Amino acid sequence: MNFKNKNIISIRDISKEQIEYIMKISAQVKAGTYPDLLKNKVLATLFFEPSTRTRLSFEAAISLSGGNYIGFADAINSSVKKGETLKDTIKTITGYCHAIVIRHPYEGAARVAAEVSKVPVINAGDGSNQHPTQTLLDLFTINEKFGKIDGLNIGLFGDLKYGRTVHSLSMALAYYNVNLYLISPELLQMPSYYKQHLKQSGVPFFEHETLNEIGKKLDILYVTRLQRERFGDPLEYEKMSGSYRVTEDTLLSLANHTKIMHPLPRVDEITPAVDTYENAIYFEQAHNGIFVRQALLGLVTGAIK
Ligand code: CP
Repeated sequence: MNFKNKNIISIRDISKEQIEYIMKISAQVKAGTYPDLLKNKVLATLFFEPSTRTRLSFEAAISLSGGNYIGFADAINSSVKKGETLKDTIKTITGYCHAIVIRHPYEGAARVAAEVSKVPVINAGDGSNQHPTQTLLDLFTINEKFGKIDGLNIGLFGDLKYGRTVHSLSMALAYYNVNLYLISPELLQMPSYYKQHLKQSGVPFFEHETLNEIGKKLDILYVTRLQRERFGDPLEYEKMSGSYRVTEDTLLSLANHTKIMHPLPRVDEITPAVDTYENAIYFEQAHNGIFVRQALLGLVTGAIK
């Protein structure tokens, strides 16, 4: 399967077969099959928005595979601060590296970067739009835990309006035979664009405001943070703050086997006491980001054919 120079901007750029292939390679990377996979490769990590997991796991991925990285964690330290455009920034950096990872607050920024880049561009999150590498590591984790994705009952819980991770994930899950439960306060429902995509793909989905009626059915409860930075009106954020939460009591409304996932960072939507529950797998999920990103970098740079 040829991934060389492929841009990864939206999960829709990747077919189901390609997703399965990335998961297969990720498992091989995790098993230690590809030492020095990215030797002599340089990755540029351009983060115009804060990040812990995505940036550091990409940087760890290239370092652990024998490569190097350049970039910035805050555009304030770049010439963007002097007024340089995104396109000029990318046209310059494309000559310094073998792949670019970009996070930007504006939807579509990664697509714009890909238009002028000579090396593959990977979207590390653009506004409320997409976060495809998070989705790949989510799918990898699900598959690792259950040995399958088909047939699962998956609940997406929290800020489904602004959360880009659940937007990407819902689109990827549309490739599979799953039942989706969209659980959120009314004001934070999944945008109609994504629901339309689920409908067109024939994915059964059900909307709920609380977990009460359906918690016991779930194989996975995927929780998301209230996306404070995406609210136009701070009063609206204050109104929604604390409107959903996973506590030790919540565990009683789930099945014994329900796995709790979260892309992280967590604010207050999962109480830390839940972390010791054996089915709380969010830190393990974050750790898998390394292997999936190593695999993806290997594929788009042509190091893995
Ligand atoms: N999951 C995720 O994107 O985390 P960061 O914002 O810390 O990168």
